[in-house]
Amino acid sequence: MPGMVARGLGVLWLSYGVMGGNMQPEGYAQVLSTIIDFGMSLPEAGDSARFRHSPDSSAGVAPPGGVLSSTPFSVVLRGILPASMDKPANTRYPIHDLIAARWSPRAFAQKPVETGKLYRIFEAARWAPSSFNEQPWGFIVATQQDEDAHRAIADCLVEGNRAWAELAPVLMISIAKLTLDRNGKPNRHAYHDLGQAMALMLVQATDLGLVAHQMGGFDQDKARQTLNIPDDYDPVAAIALGYPGDAEKLPRELHESEYGPRQRKGFEEFVWSGVFGTPMPFESRVKRALEGE
Ligand SMILES: Cc1cc2nc3c(=O)[nH]c(=O)nc-3n(C[C@H](O)[C@H](O)[C@H](O)COP(=O)(O)O)c2cc1C
Repeated sequence: MPGMVARGLGVLWLSYGVMGGNMQPEGYAQVLSTIIDFGMSLPEAGDSARFRHSPDSSAGVAPPGGVLSSTPFSVVLRGILPASMDKPANTRYPIHDLIAARWSPRAFAQKPVETGKLYRIFEAARWAPSSFNEQPWGFIVATQQDEDAHRAIADCLVEGNRAWAELAPVLMISIAKLTLDRNGKPNRHAYHDLGQAMALMLVQATDLGLVAHQMGGFDQDKARQTLNIPDDYDPVAAIALGYPGDAEKLPRELHESEYGPRQRKGFEEFVWSGVFGTPMPFESRVKRALEGE
């Protein structure tokens, strides 16, 4: 039984949030009770077991003095399993655990991604909605087992990305078809639709214990040429995919971004009420709740 490998070894080390999220005492209790099942549930040596703890979200807003957070946990055996990191989003409102858990690490485990899992993430992308159901997305995929193809994509990356991304077991280039199959006219929603397919792929990947890091930093012309991308497709992003690895093994200069907090704009910067520029009224109420009034 693969999970048994972990049982009884070493000291259990809990990593949650960015090394100190906002877990309440009840959270610890839940985690400890989950650990009791640990030996049975760890899927494989080398994987971190992800435990999901959903805070009570019945109120729908953040509790006074606290911030709502979906809190996935990594339970690892220090020194035995790689200390892959979780950086769950500090959400103001409860969201699905998978959305909160997804983030873009740069450390990948040297472990191939099972073909079945690859099919499952592309299946998720396949079911994305798209304008006129044109499905204008495409993915050129190379696994580390196919060395030449993998290197061909790695060669397209800018140096700063290549340094860490070429260690990912799977590399991809996403492409968008810029003309409509139905009439050959420009498809002005192509990038929008590719983005949706990508987002669903990432949610599915997260559910399978995978992590991905998208990159705009690659040479589009080189990709077009070496990967035979037709003129009516645009190479959009490079993607590194795999299992989470040990962030400690990354070069020092990447540690800050790897361990740093995840930042997001506030609603006031991207959600408006009625017309552009008018904040949503509920935001001020949430702010007051957060401030403990
Ligand atoms: C289209 C796109 C291009 C990106 N380009 C790069 C890149 O070239 N290099 C990099 O290190 N990260 C890149 N990122 C990752 C973003 O920096 C990251 O998604 C963002 O900081 C939010 O962090 P999170 O994904 O961990 O929530 C890119 C992300 C997207 C969606």
